[in-house]
Amino acid sequence: MNRPVLILGAGIAGLWTALKLAPRPVILVTGSPLGTGAATGWAQGGIAAALGEGDSPALHASDTLAAGDGLSDPHAARLLASGIASEVKALRALGVPFDIDDEGRITQGLEAAHSRARIAHVTGDRAGAAILAALIETVRTADHVTLLEGWRAVALVPSRIGGCAGAHLRGPAGETRIIAARDTVLAMGGAGGLWQVSTSPSGALGQAMAMAARIGAEIADPEFVQSHPTAIDIGLDPAPLATEALRGEGAKLIDGQGRRLMESISDALDLAPRDIVARAVHAARQSGRGAFLDAREAVGDHFPNRFPTVFAACMAAGLDPRITPIPIAPAAHYHMGGVATDTEGRTTLPGLWAVGECAANGLHGANRLASNSLAEGLVFGARTANALQSTSGKPQVALNVDLPPALPALALTRLRQAMSAECGVERTGAGLERLLGILDALTARYGDTDPVLAARFIVNAAANRQESRGAHWRLDHPARSETPRHTRLALEDIEADVLATQARPA
Ligand code: SIN
Repeated sequence: MNRPVLILGAGIAGLWTALKLAPRPVILVTGSPLGTGAATGWAQGGIAAALGEGDSPALHASDTLAAGDGLSDPHAARLLASGIASEVKALRALGVPFDIDDEGRITQGLEAAHSRARIAHVTGDRAGAAILAALIETVRTADHVTLLEGWRAVALVPSRIGGCAGAHLRGPAGETRIIAARDTVLAMGGAGGLWQVSTSPSGALGQAMAMAARIGAEIADPEFVQSHPTAIDIGLDPAPLATEALRGEGAKLIDGQGRRLMESISDALDLAPRDIVARAVHAARQSGRGAFLDAREAVGDHFPNRFPTVFAACMAAGLDPRITPIPIAPAAHYHMGGVATDTEGRTTLPGLWAVGECAANGLHGANRLASNSLAEGLVFGARTANALQSTSGKPQVALNVDLPPALPALALTRLRQAMSAECGVERTGAGLERLLGILDALTARYGDTDPVLAARFIVNAAANRQESRGAHWRLDHPARSETPRHTRLALEDIEADVLATQARPA
């Protein structure tokens, strides 16, 4: 019997996996109405794909590996770079209106750390929104997909043989139900909402990581969290993004006096890798010099047509980017780590799969290359769907599980402040220890909640990585270790560390 696959999450990775599974039946679960709550819709940059002359998948893979700073898996990078062209073609066939030249070829822009201009855009900065809209339209009419909108996954169902047997969902009125499934796919996005300043949807609190770990799945490299250097600093939460494509078009990073921020820092100037630019922006703000993105000359009057999303965000805040530099701040943007998977989405547990930002399949290593995330959702969503075509059998026998308590809003605010203060662009051992103490206090007061458990994975791994690599910068360990190593953690490692922390003298 062709049993339904249960997919939790409806951003690009969940939707693409669902569509590619046809004709196998799919139950697609999304806590918020389709099209909202997923980071995909906010992705401005586009899709990295070597489509043009003078570029090649080999170059794209090599840029991906360089950005990953010694921890990207060459096999995963090759799969992405060689697989993305056909997925872009499939999106065009669905009607995604990529920006094209007079001959109908997709035009491609430059972003940081890419050796070629290879980013495919839609209306400048609207790639994520346009792709999401096309996928939603297709999913809504797909016969093989049953949509559970307004139902949020709150826990996975453990099975008697140590795997996953489905998920507990909470409905719009707070009611709960269990969906049993032979195969459950986590596609629940990242963890950016754990930070006070973030470009991620506020609901992205690392739930996939916490839920998977609770039933025994391994977590890989959770300490690697990318900050985007140019979130627009206009006091909004989440912070709107000023896409890196602006710098690809020549916009410059300056301080409050109009001096170039990157001149003494990197030969690549404003197109240096994202972690380097984020630290430079952070340092300029910390020192009181201020940090701004000046797109007056590079974009100027073309703003409304070329970058409509950024333009609208600025204008809504009373700031005209055609005549005023944009105030910026680094913001938590993308989680490279997450639920450990292979390159077909298999986690370490039978019956449990993960794709997209919540998965750590080795592609991004210590630092994701810009515009590789929509590409990842497509290529690895398709690979996961393909692998799922050959699974069969009944759901495993379920075990009972207690649902974790929820973290109250005020406590979440405390958590987010502490994560930004101690586990952001720059980290220290002492700061991470302080943060572990705050996580202990939150657990003692509110119970074992998912956001705090997700934060524990990130903070423990950050404390244990005593080197600086990619997006993980330790002020007290600025050198990069000569031997790259991955982090692998399970729930029992975190529990052991909690006990060790509690045993330490105050
Ligand atoms: C951006 O547009 O700068 C973000 C693109 C990305 O994060 O890949």
